[in-house]
Amino acid sequence: MDLELIIKEIKEKLSNASSLQDLAALKPLYLGKKGAISQLMSNMKNLSIEERKTFGQQVNAIKTEAEDLFKTKEQELNDKLVSEKLAKETIDVTMPGVKFAAGSIHPLSQTIMDLEELYTSMGYEVAEGPELETDEYCFEKLNLPKGHPARDMQDTFYINPEWLLRSQTSPVQVRTMLEKKGKPIQIICPGKTYRRDQDDATHSHQFMQCEGLVLGKNITMADLKGALLEMAKKILGDDKEIRLRPSFFPFTEPSVEVDVSCVKCGGKGCSMCKNSGWIEVLGAGMVNDNVLRMCGYDPKEIQGFAFGIGIERITMLKYGIDDIRNFYSNDIRFLKQFKETK
Ligand code: DAH
Repeated sequence: MDLELIIKEIKEKLSNASSLQDLAALKPLYLGKKGAISQLMSNMKNLSIEERKTFGQQVNAIKTEAEDLFKTKEQELNDKLVSEKLAKETIDVTMPGVKFAAGSIHPLSQTIMDLEELYTSMGYEVAEGPELETDEYCFEKLNLPKGHPARDMQDTFYINPEWLLRSQTSPVQVRTMLEKKGKPIQIICPGKTYRRDQDDATHSHQFMQCEGLVLGKNITMADLKGALLEMAKKILGDDKEIRLRPSFFPFTEPSVEVDVSCVKCGGKGCSMCKNSGWIEVLGAGMVNDNVLRMCGYDPKEIQGFAFGIGIERITMLKYGIDDIRNFYSNDIRFLKQFKETK
């Protein structure tokens, strides 16, 4: 075949090729071992030495040109393929998005988060302890020896005579004191607690508390009142006031019960606060000397306060929830109402 013709033919065929497959079929016809160009080479043996040289050069030039033509076409087809793919994958940013149903923070978790935020900002650390506790840490080292009548205040799930499900978060005080060995302490401890209560609107066999313990030099009841007032304002609103009433807890002396100004009437008196203007929210007091001594502290050197907040109780007051069982029944209609909380 005429050398010029080959290039002409290749150009023609390439211009008609519309896919890489076409190209793959075409290429061996010209550039393959038995293709047109190789065949030209095999014709060389019929030529004189002189002729062979020029002919060889010409064939080589044609071969290079043909290879370039195929390469350019291949690049062109590849580019076309990529742009077609990109066009198909274009994202239409104006299309409406798919809405995922987002969960919400459980109101009890929200209260714990608020307490942690407040108290850590005041320098407290968050401590933890096990839910399965010993009688020694849950009662004895808290000044509640076996047979003490105040044990009746807490009806406890015993696993055996020594092990129980903690009925309060106060054993974390004991654990922390034993660990800190006479050094100052400033902790809160939110966590689950258990009591052998019949579940009803205000009782749950499993509930939560947040314990607080501050030990140091010259800690007074005024510090306790300050720490609790901040808490009442943070959880229930800036307009809240608190008052302390004398009470009894074995682990504190003196002990107080803390009331907050009524969340419903603001203190004027209503059915919720039984016309007193106040609602009881927690127990607290100055840590009893016996507890300090049993946990390795010298009451003459160091003293301080403790408090125990019922998480459910304060959350119910915050949102106006009248049945504690709502927190644990996992009714989506109840939980959805707390979407807007921060
Ligand atoms: N542990 C007490 C309870 O469950 C609450 C409590 C009262 C905790 C006074 C304290 C405290 O730390 O000082 O009833």
